[in-house]
Amino acid sequence: MTTKDNAPSNAAALHAALLSPSPVNIERCARALCEGDLVAFPTETVFGLGAAVNQAAAVAGIFKAKGRPADHPLIAHAAPGFDWSAGWIQFSTPLQQQQFEALTRAFWPGPLTLVLPKGSLMPLQVTGGQNSVGIRCPSHPVAVALLQAAGVPVAAPSANRFGKVSPTRAAHVMAELGDRLPWVLDGNIPEVGIESTIVSLLEATPRILRPGAITAAQLTHALGQSVQGFTQSSARKDNPRVSGALEKHYSPDAKVLVLDDLALNGFVPQGRSLCVGWSDGFLTQADALRTEYRDLVLVEALANTPQDVAKNLYSTLRQADALQCVHVVFERPGNGEDWEGVADRLKRASA
Ligand code: TXA
Ligand code: MG
Repeated sequence: MTTKDNAPSNAAALHAALLSPSPVNIERCARALCEGDLVAFPTETVFGLGAAVNQAAAVAGIFKAKGRPADHPLIAHAAPGFDWSAGWIQFSTPLQQQQFEALTRAFWPGPLTLVLPKGSLMPLQVTGGQNSVGIRCPSHPVAVALLQAAGVPVAAPSANRFGKVSPTRAAHVMAELGDRLPWVLDGNIPEVGIESTIVSLLEATPRILRPGAITAAQLTHALGQSVQGFTQSSARKDNPRVSGALEKHYSPDAKVLVLDDLALNGFVPQGRSLCVGWSDGFLTQADALRTEYRDLVLVEALANTPQDVAKNLYSTLRQADALQCVHVVFERPGNGEDWEGVADRLKRASA
């Protein structure tokens, strides 16, 4: 018997349809979500793999498609103006409600996820069995229109296989999950490029569980109260099931190195290598390597801002794999708070 004969009858690969974000297609995808299908869609951070929170089989399908452990919590997304307090979340103190209101006024719609006590309508399946839930209101116009039309919160992790690089193009989703879901909605390239900042409001002092584009200083300013900044150990202590707290994550097949220009000076390529940098010093050094090792060293120059580096980070990691690089060498990010999101993702990608 051939392998094909052995395959179960329903094993025919699902080939996702890639849809342009026309009003008709957005409507169609919203209906698909409400009927229990999976839909991948763009947000301003990364593409999400969505299921309506009240469609248990679809939510289970997210974990299956990603290969993600069932006790890792998902983030629930809804459009601006959605009334989360009508049973989806539940405030445990007036201070918590004030903090929620101050942060949503300042940063929603946008790349901020807030962790709050869950309400009775929010299924434990979405929260990985926890009594708290991460909620977010994205700003990408296609996400907003889709969520508006769906009318129900949509659970959506990044639309990649577990442990792999998050997708910032519809083509990345098609390549990695196209055989595992029916619908991929296209849209403009994510402006932010790395996942949302996650802030827990479960204790009186808000705590950053995952760094992102919105920094501790911005949060402090909006709250009029200091926040506990991100530390690896506090995120892990807080919740060992937080996938953003896993040491190794966001990994391409190429080995990721993070070097400053001095260390790059001594780099000897062991195969094709992609050097990605943004400062004059690093790029000069990378060009010297390119001259020395003609066919082996490729260089990509990004603009020297944390925003531009974040926006291009994941597509560059994927590019290294597409070029079959052995190494992708990133310039070491600065120590400032605004580089924290990039530094965190690079640290995990290189672990
Ligand atoms: O930017 C984003 O947040 C993207 C887009 C698609 O919105 N989504 C995303 O989801 O990054 P995901 O599944 O890759 O990350 C979910 C993370 C969990 O691993 C955990 O870190 C945190 O959100 N999270 C969710 N619910 C939580 C909870 N109840 N307590 C603590 N952390 C939670
Ligand atoms: Mg993810």
